[in-house]
Amino acid sequence: MYIVQIASECAPVIKAGGLGDVVYGLSRELEGRGHCVEIILPKYDCMRYDHIWGLHDAYINLWVPWYDAAIHCSVYCGWVHGRVCFFIEPHCEDNFFNRGCYYGCDDDNIRFAFFCKAALEFLLKSNKRPDIIHCHDWQTGLVPVMLYEIYKYHGMEYQRVCYTIHNFKHQGIGGIDILRGTGLNRESYYFQYDHLRDNFNPFALNLMKGGIVYSNAVTTVSPYHAWEARHTDIGCGLGHTLYLHQDKFSGVLNGIDYDFWNPEIDRYIPYNYSQADFEQKAYNKKALRERLMLSHSDKPIIAYIGRLDNQKGVHLVHHGIYHALNKGAQFVLLGSATEPGINAHFQHEKHFLNDNPDVHLELGFNEELSHLIYAGADMIIVPSNYEPCGLTQMIGLKYGTVPIVRGVGGLVNTVFDRDYDQKLPPEKRNGYVFYDTDYHALESAMDRAIALWYEKPEEFRQLALQGMDYDYSWNHPGAKYVEIYDWIRHKW
Ligand code: ADP
Ligand code: GLC
Repeated sequence: MYIVQIASECAPVIKAGGLGDVVYGLSRELEGRGHCVEIILPKYDCMRYDHIWGLHDAYINLWVPWYDAAIHCSVYCGWVHGRVCFFIEPHCEDNFFNRGCYYGCDDDNIRFAFFCKAALEFLLKSNKRPDIIHCHDWQTGLVPVMLYEIYKYHGMEYQRVCYTIHNFKHQGIGGIDILRGTGLNRESYYFQYDHLRDNFNPFALNLMKGGIVYSNAVTTVSPYHAWEARHTDIGCGLGHTLYLHQDKFSGVLNGIDYDFWNPEIDRYIPYNYSQADFEQKAYNKKALRERLMLSHSDKPIIAYIGRLDNQKGVHLVHHGIYHALNKGAQFVLLGSATEPGINAHFQHEKHFLNDNPDVHLELGFNEELSHLIYAGADMIIVPSNYEPCGLTQMIGLKYGTVPIVRGVGGLVNTVFDRDYDQKLPPEKRNGYVFYDTDYHALESAMDRAIALWYEKPEEFRQLALQGMDYDYSWNHPGAKYVEIYDWIRHKW
């Protein structure tokens, strides 16, 4: 099959979170299965150009219709660790992707609506006719809409779309004027509830809803989150839309790229290790302490790696730091906050805890350090309010770092409580799970983990090794996506 992924991120060149990992990892898996994959991305000024090979002259120049005029775009081709990527650069006064950031601009809806339009124009003008177009999140929600309403009349009638939702919280809700920009001129038709009108705000357009309504298959990133999205308020207003389109909606658990996230071959960690020589992990712990200037004492290290955002349960992350210290553990946090209030809060904590040799707070995004933390920590906490899939617990498992998670979304599908899991025998369990959002719930899970580490080190080691047994590679999800692609190719 010929598959084109259209997305706003692709690791490691453009990565704000797990979306980037997924676009890269899934593409690599599909190629490994013999499919041809290409990835279309915006050409941001702030992406990691050092990870792109061969990005020279424009591959093609085109004029993309936009409102009553057209914007000149250059599309560049480059290889990101072996994957073929096309980067779209519009030459316009608004500098859509030259803002020093990926997201967070007032005109994000406009920027990404333009990206969708340009991606389709690129496919059209370069005569690319993929069997499958795989789109991700609200930023690409307009691709299936325009494909069906405009481009199918220009020779793209056989392209099928799989649309994956990574986060229902961000839906691309905004003004309807964008429709005219993209050439979807029958505004009153599109602006109906069974098309793109937002379910809550009767005056707004919802781009993610467009993606759901118009795609041939819709997925989210874990089976349990698929259930939550339909049956609880976690679908953020789209539950009913998913119900109406339930025949094409499913949850496919993400994978992890084990060529990148693998302690046996990880080039960012000083001591590679596997289950067979698990004691090497202790040297990484030592290296982590040295790097972060933590004291070398006989204590477990608990880590948090992730965005600092309400989704991630920042109140519990904050509480977890102090609870770990009270219970005789060390704590390492690597987090990036986009919200100024949360950022200021953690900056203040960092300052306050500066002289404490048992804690280190690293604020910002640091890929390389994240690998050393996964390898050097004993436990990793993921106390999310909601979590569509979550990759950090799966990476933790691969590195023998025991996850302590809240039982929501994909965390339910990947972590099984050592003491209380009802479905798996003890030798299959891999971490700790708590459910409530209060401090007590987190504390009791952390206490159980810390107590096992101190009192029964051999059993703690066994739990970590059991976690390493799990296969959360792309192998299984890759097969699932191929099944979905086949299904939509033959159904329509
Ligand atoms: P989300 O996509 O919601 O942010 P995930 O758990 O799916 O959360 O994926 C997070 C990814 O981003 C993981 O690969 C994690 O290691 C990485 N990550 C998150 N925050 C940071 C950071 N501050 N520095 C380095 N890597 C980070
Ligand atoms: C989103 C979700 C996260 C998921 C990631 C990759 O950012 O918040 O749970 O793992 O996408 O699908």
